[in-house]
Amino acid sequence: MTDTTADVNVELLPTDWREQVLQLAEERDAVILAHNYQVPEIQDIAHHTGDSLGLSRLAAEVEESTIVFCGVHFMAESAKILSYDKTVLIPDAQAGCSLAETITADQLRAWKAEHPGAVVVSYVNTTAAVKAETDICCTSSNAVDVVNSIPAHKPVLFCPDQFLGAHVQRLTGRENMHIWMGECHVHAGINGADLKERVEAEPDAELFVHPECGCATSALYLVGAGVVPEARTKILSTGGMIDAARDTTASTVLVATETGMLHQLQKAAPLVNFEPVNRAAVCKYMKMITPAKLLRSLREGRDEVTVDRDIADRARQSVERMIAIGTPSATVD
Ligand code: 13P
Ligand code: SF4
Repeated sequence: MTDTTADVNVELLPTDWREQVLQLAEERDAVILAHNYQVPEIQDIAHHTGDSLGLSRLAAEVEESTIVFCGVHFMAESAKILSYDKTVLIPDAQAGCSLAETITADQLRAWKAEHPGAVVVSYVNTTAAVKAETDICCTSSNAVDVVNSIPAHKPVLFCPDQFLGAHVQRLTGRENMHIWMGECHVHAGINGADLKERVEAEPDAELFVHPECGCATSALYLVGAGVVPEARTKILSTGGMIDAARDTTASTVLVATETGMLHQLQKAAPLVNFEPVNRAAVCKYMKMITPAKLLRSLREGRDEVTVDRDIADRARQSVERMIAIGTPSATVD
């Protein structure tokens, strides 16, 4: 990863930064993609916002010669893998992911050696090197379909998120599934105690829970115990939450995921009151992408994302298998 210049955030942002961003994007033949956890200003200026599956699909389809990816590094790497001949920029290459860091390619190779013949399913929150060792990738919106696509007799190695893995195992009923014990520090921090307290305070609210959350298990337990009705509890990807927001009839929805999500939810359903289960659930990596850095990225053509051709070629196969299976995401605009 390239280094970032110090404190570009404290530079005064020109009042016409939006016009400049759009003008520079046109001059560079660039499309700006933003994940649903980005700060609102970035979500609003981007040409498209979406979840990680939707953005991967778009990266493979867009016509522009440059993709500016406002998200974290593994997402920009996925764009590069899928559009190898395009220039892919990320406004700050230091925007990593604590979950992607929980497994390396060496660790995955060692795990595979312990389970010969197993099929490796990796969540897209992994480095390109890990994807190159993977049979098929998945995201939170298609993980169940991906695991169901694997013949029942084949053991599955699922990495790196333990909560998403547990959720997929519950839904598929698959016993021959081994789960890597990784977690995202933001979602693991949304725990069952927070959830129980919020549900008790808002008994009529609907619940949207991202499957990476530590509280996903608690949510299902609360359903089983009758504390929250099943019909009002939804375990969803970030894109699935936007679809569900458009359909909800509830006046309040409790949201268990990174708080950047609330911006798109509120836009999708302005009359609904969306409340975070944990206000402190903020991904510092996602928030490293700022308007000042986006402007710099377009002006200076940085930070360019590169992936070795051999790794990209192998990783592409696992991502393309996922894209072929995944259910269409209606969340990308
Ligand atoms: P989605 O795949 O739901 O967009 O989530 C990506 C992510 O990083 C969750 O923390
Ligand atoms: Fe990674 Fe967690 Fe941030 Fe998502 S919220 S990008 S999983 S650190």
